[in-house]
Amino acid sequence: MMDGWRVEAMTEESIDPVVAIETASFLNPWSKLCFLEELSFKDSHNFILKLENSIQAYQIVAYLCCRVLVDELHILKLAVHPEHRRKGIATGFLSHCLNTFGTQQIKTVILDVRSSNSAAIGLYQKLDFQIIGQRPNYYFDTGESAFLMRKIY
Ligand SMILES: CC(C)(COP(=O)(O)OP(=O)(O)OC[C@H]1O[C@@H](n2cnc3c(N)ncnc32)[C@H](O)[C@@H]1OP(=O)(O)O)[C@@H](O)C(=O)NCCC(=O)NCCS
Repeated sequence: MMDGWRVEAMTEESIDPVVAIETASFLNPWSKLCFLEELSFKDSHNFILKLENSIQAYQIVAYLCCRVLVDELHILKLAVHPEHRRKGIATGFLSHCLNTFGTQQIKTVILDVRSSNSAAIGLYQKLDFQIIGQRPNYYFDTGESAFLMRKIY
């Protein structure tokens, strides 16, 4: 993907910077408690991406939360720090994380995305996801619909 990056499992220690990115990224962000609860679920898989900065410290710049349901992987959250967007980070990070699940184990990857979120829709289409359905009035805040997107291995 790029020099000086590391993918690690999200832990309790990484949640504060994750919540900061979350708050800058979503209209109704998950709280710290939501992330802590997510970490406790057996089928939940949560990753962070760290990038080395100019003073050689590693900074969390992206995260991904997903759950495995039988042979489906459900993506619940993905965000990149606003200052690091449009540099291919989500493409590299998501591809890397998806590759950590064997295609024997995972046959499909599923997610919901706001129909107005053209950045995310473009990202997923680039990674071979297709829109397979629409859920009208899915988001209580704006009343907008969700696209259901799926990638099949
Ligand atoms: C969606 C998001 C994760 C993309 O992260 P990113 O690291 O900037 O994405 P990449 O640089 O890997 O871009 C991959 C592709 O996505 C699309 N894309 C990304 N940002 C875009 C934008 N602002 N406008 C249009 N298309 C965009 C493009 O197709 C891009 O490919 P290209 O650069 O070759 O044109 C990031 O914008 C984000 O964190 N948004 C807020 C949180 C969010 O909406 N998460 C998804 C919820 S389902």
